[in-house]
Amino acid sequence: MTLSYLRNILFLSHLFALSVRCQGLAFSGEAITTRFWDCCKPSCGWKQKAPFSRPVLSCGIDEKPLDIAAGTGCNGGNAYLCSDQQPWVVNETFSYGFAGIFLPGHNEDFWCCSCYQLDFTSDPLRGKSMIVQASNTAYDINTANRFSLAVPGGNTTSYDACAKQYGVDQTVFGENHRGVGSKEDCDGLPQQLQPGCRWRYDWFQDASYPSANFKRVVCPAELTDRTLCKRNDEKALAEGGSSSAAPTSSSPASFRAGALAVIIAALLSA
Ligand SMILES: *[C@@H]1O[C@H](CO)[C@@H](O)[C@H](O)[C@H]1NC(C)=O
Ligand SMILES: *[C@@H]1O[C@H](CO)[C@@H](O)[C@H](O)[C@H]1NC(C)=O
Repeated sequence: MTLSYLRNILFLSHLFALSVRCQGLAFSGEAITTRFWDCCKPSCGWKQKAPFSRPVLSCGIDEKPLDIAAGTGCNGGNAYLCSDQQPWVVNETFSYGFAGIFLPGHNEDFWCCSCYQLDFTSDPLRGKSMIVQASNTAYDINTANRFSLAVPGGNTTSYDACAKQYGVDQTVFGENHRGVGSKEDCDGLPQQLQPGCRWRYDWFQDASYPSANFKRVVCPAELTDRTLCKRNDEKALAEGGSSSAAPTSSSPASFRAGALAVIIAALLSA
């Protein structure tokens, strides 16, 4: 066995390790959270954003699903955020929802339609968790891991897409960067958005920028049934993942098995 041969094996093992880390299937970390509900077509609603079954479902003003290519209501088009992509309570300590996310060093290809468990780490939410699907991208803060939770009336933007989608005055959605000011204000929102608006004051306790530990998990059908978007790597995550426990980006056991397979392949091909 020559030295260069050994070096080749090491190189191949290294490549394999890199590829495992790049897939980042059980990716985890610490995050800040914000809120949004701009009514725009979600950024993961466009073709080819990531390897997935189809993009996140967008809705027309009548809540009917639209052609995937329809333009966003925030730029003259007629595609909007579907009203059922709002959060809901499962029990006292657990909720489901959707989020616009940003993970520095990665792009939409990496996160669009993946699901993350958020374990809140600040009061008053400590001890509570959510599982959210990344249906959107939070572009404007890109220095930290960020999950902007999709909460109706949780935060408007300068776009008037909500007014167009629901035929109401944009002011019922509250103030820019803040959203509505009280639970009572949720009564002013279109009917189908009121439960998610009240969720903020009930389960979420109107928490201000709560922090969370996050980790990728296999998407529950409860979420993908609403967006219709499933990533192609979900099966690999389910198989290799130990997604409920692994704090690191790859499972050591599957990494060792993979590295061994690479070395054996290298030996056979020599
Ligand atoms: C509202 O959205 C803006 C833009 O993303 C963000 O800077 C702000 O922190 C958000 N506000 C809340 C309360 O999440
Ligand atoms: C809340 O629901 C989650 C998800 O189904 C479950 O894992 C957890 O045990 C439940 N907690 C309580 C207190 O019922």
